[in-house]
Amino acid sequence: MTFTFKIAPSILAADFTQLGEQVREAEAAGADLFHLDIMDGDFVPNISFGPMVVEAVRRVTQKFLDVHLMIEQPERYFEVFAKAGANRLNIHVETCPQLRNSLQQVKTLGLKVGVAINPETPFERIVEALDEVDRVLVMTVHPGFGGQQFLDEVLPKIGQIARAAKALNRAPEIGVDGGVDVTTIRRVLEQGANVMIAGSSIFHAPTGIAAGIQALRDAAK
Ligand code: DX5
Ligand code: ZN
Repeated sequence: MTFTFKIAPSILAADFTQLGEQVREAEAAGADLFHLDIMDGDFVPNISFGPMVVEAVRRVTQKFLDVHLMIEQPERYFEVFAKAGANRLNIHVETCPQLRNSLQQVKTLGLKVGVAINPETPFERIVEALDEVDRVLVMTVHPGFGGQQFLDEVLPKIGQIARAAKALNRAPEIGVDGGVDVTTIRRVLEQGANVMIAGSSIFHAPTGIAAGIQALRDAAK
């Protein structure tokens, strides 16, 4: 079986002294969009970068910028990231007690919206959002760091989400985030995911970024 899917390099794993060059290189190698991880040191035990980096990436590519907000009370920053050039904001169900309301706020800014779900959060928590979102972002590691081991136990949840969306006649993109590499890509595709967010397997690929992207495509066959 062949799968149609997008590859979204996660710049968290890039060399920030060469960020522009690396984004251009990934784009030339066929990256479909870019994934940008915003961490606040509160919702997750790490701090990454903020809107300035989103703006910088915006200046070097026209590709779709997929911003992943791992921050408490993300509503405070929707407008800031919209102005920085984000095309979509992914917000965590765990941070949004009024999820529908928060999703609506993102849409009002003219952006696409995604709902992200942590490994330990049951899929039922996002079912109410399936008719509101363009994408579901399934965390296949505990968010906070790149380079972690893929959590196999999350695999069934990808299938559950795909089936629940279908039953509602919806077809949000299903992205997987964390530990996506040549050893795991096939399994997530088989469950129905169609956007592969990948940091280490692209930016730390021993033979380079383009080879990392190609290796993912080959492993999916
Ligand atoms: C983890 C981030 C991911 C991360 C994935 O909290 O949300 O986007 O960059 O990195 P890898 O592909 O190295 O697991
Ligand atoms: Zn992410």
